[in-house]
Amino acid sequence: RKPIKVALLGCGTVGTEVVRLLTDQAPDLTARIGAPVELAGIAVRRPNKHREVPAELLTTDAEALVASDDVDVVVEVIGGIEPARSLLLTALRSGKSVVTANKALLAEHSADLFEASDASGADLYFEAAVAGAIPLLRPLRESLAGDRITRVMGIVNGTTNFILSGMDSTGASYAETLEEATRLGYAEADPTADVDGFDAASKAAILASLAFHSRVTAADVHREGIAAVSAADIAAAKGLGRIVKLLAICERVSVDAGDGSGASEGISVRVHPAMIPRSHPLASVHGAFNAVFVEADAAGEMMFYGQGAGGAPTASAVLGDLVAVARNRVHSGRGPRESAYAGLPVRPMGQT
Ligand code: HSE
Repeated sequence: RKPIKVALLGCGTVGTEVVRLLTDQAPDLTARIGAPVELAGIAVRRPNKHREVPAELLTTDAEALVASDDVDVVVEVIGGIEPARSLLLTALRSGKSVVTANKALLAEHSADLFEASDASGADLYFEAAVAGAIPLLRPLRESLAGDRITRVMGIVNGTTNFILSGMDSTGASYAETLEEATRLGYAEADPTADVDGFDAASKAAILASLAFHSRVTAADVHREGIAAVSAADIAAAKGLGRIVKLLAICERVSVDAGDGSGASEGISVRVHPAMIPRSHPLASVHGAFNAVFVEADAAGEMMFYGQGAGGAPTASAVLGDLVAVARNRVHSGRGPRESAYAGLPVRPMGQT
């Protein structure tokens, strides 16, 4: 059977693990997919930096790699909006399947990407964009597509959960605990995206879009980070039998459109620190782990738990998507379509 050829865009912590898994598991993947999967090229900015991957695959010309007739699937782990957005739109428009881990891109430009995917019939999968290794987006998009999801609520940022867990167990201040998290490599040198809730807001937008078949962007998400959480807040929560967690909450609510037509069904999407009872399943999620609690009419309550970041866990989700899109190509299948959903309005901030 003709090999499925893959262009890898980016080769940092996640990309390196994708190459390793693809290489180490090649025979198993071939058996599972029904055709071999081969790397056509790896686009990077500085080829000399990447001694851990085959030098002959490296290129600095991502555009040419994506445009190559030799490529069937584009896997993007560069992150950020550009050039990722243009490259993925080019890939989708030319019928190439796309697998991406790019939460910022999905949270801002999913409408364009879904449209391009539906127009050409090319698959767009992005399991790694939210909660790393945890199978979460496919369950929301596919397994629960016949149910009515009412709420998705979770810990989707490992850095802030590490800090809040640390403050809870030691009683130390936010500043001291952030310093410790940075020293141990859990928090980045510039922790703004995590501690101010931007990372969680992007993930909340993606979760709400899938759970409620709607269009939610990061700008629609009410966002509050953890920088103002004090040791006194943590102690007060403890006194009440509670624990402070940074939660992403997406739920069905009623929304007043403000046009005199009264309230109609809509959604609320927000990220903020919350005091939850210590008996709640999310209260026992410690350190850099992620967990997402889902409620649906027929299914009831479910919880998804695991590693939300890191090279190998994130690469696991990327590989799962790669197998799915490769199988679709081999067996003439197709992943879910998203562009036709009308969707529910997002409740404006401040409206209750
Ligand atoms: N900075 C993110 C976190 C990485 O701390 O969870 C995964 O998106």
